[in-house]
Amino acid sequence: MSNWVEGKVIENKHWTELLYSLRIEAEIEPFIAGQYGRLGLQIDDQIVGRPYSFVNAPHESLLEFYSITVSEGPLSPRLAELRVGDSIYIDKRPNGFFTLNEVPDGRDMWMLATGTALGPFLSILKSKEVWQRFENIVLVHAVRFAKELTYQDTIASIESEFKQHFKMIPFVSREDTDFALPGRIPAAIQNGSLEERVNLQISPESSQVMMCGNPDMLTDTRNALVEKGLKKNLRRSPGQITTESYW
Ligand SMILES: Cc1cc2nc3c(=O)[nH]c(=O)nc-3n(C[C@H](O)[C@H](O)[C@H](O)COP(=O)(O)OP(=O)(O)OC[C@H]3O[C@@H](n4cnc5c(N)ncnc54)[C@H](O)[C@@H]3O)c2cc1C
Ligand SMILES: NC(=O)c1ccc[n+]([C@@H]2O[C@H](COP(=O)([O-])OP(=O)(O)OC[C@H]3O[C@@H](n4cnc5c(N)ncnc54)[C@H](OP(=O)(O)O)[C@@H]3O)[C@@H](O)[C@H]2O)c1
Repeated sequence: MSNWVEGKVIENKHWTELLYSLRIEAEIEPFIAGQYGRLGLQIDDQIVGRPYSFVNAPHESLLEFYSITVSEGPLSPRLAELRVGDSIYIDKRPNGFFTLNEVPDGRDMWMLATGTALGPFLSILKSKEVWQRFENIVLVHAVRFAKELTYQDTIASIESEFKQHFKMIPFVSREDTDFALPGRIPAAIQNGSLEERVNLQISPESSQVMMCGNPDMLTDTRNALVEKGLKKNLRRSPGQITTESYW
């Protein structure tokens, strides 16, 4: 059951033809970094709602969501068209378990994102807890094209604040670059190029992995991590792999 409240669009920033970020003013209940809110619009005679991870940290008052237009989708193309001052529905109650309180301790935190799933990691990185609990944090953002490596300013300010504790590794799969790793995350785990780039080993003793986005990436990456001895993190049986699928 959704408990819709009405919010107001404060900004709709378009990064590329398909990628955009909405900033919204709305009175909702507090959330934990990594959780999602449900956004909705009135379409014909009903409210169509979808989950979107918070990009803002819980202490930041404007709510922020990062989305891609899926051309055949009912909601995302309409969200893309929202203008400053428009109304939008948002569920009063945030939700989700992709949060640090579900993740056991470890030395290194690996955050693996495809596309817009960068969002929840930015919320977590803008909060204090992750820096208090992990010595090394690696943020991996995998996109098709280099122009989709968004939020560079936010990432640069995290880099400058946390220097040797933080590394951001981009993957660009559909064009050549001289800075990003080519191809896909699971292959780079299997052939060692990701660990080599960061100069850290992935192991069950030292690593916790949070990953989010494309469900096929989650499956293939989980398989690559299982080969290294890591296992799925469940409440009844803690492990090292915590996931959230976007579809
Ligand atoms: C827990 C959760 C959190 C989510 N958080 C976000 C978020 O922060 N940002 C975001 O962009 N989406 C997020 N999504 C997906 C989002 O809820 C919508 O599905 C998406 O915006 C498309 O909505 P739609 O109604 O246009 O099409 P839908 O009918 O919902 O989706 C149609 C198809 O689009 C593709 N698709 C859906 N989402 C994505 C995506 N993010 N990237 C690439 N392809 C996609 C899939 O193939 C899907 O079957 C999340 C989903 C879940 C379950
Ligand atoms: N991004 C675009 O230019 C574009 C263009 C038209 C439409 N769209 C729409 O946007 C959606 C896709 O959005 P997106 O590009 O953000 O997400 P995406 O398709 O999930 O791609 C993001 C990254 O995830 C990688 N990936 C895909 N499957 C993987 C797997 N099994 N294992 C590891 N990595 C994997 C992709 O690599 P690969 O490149 O190797 O797949 C890419 O680097 C489509 O559903 C479509 O509706 C996007």
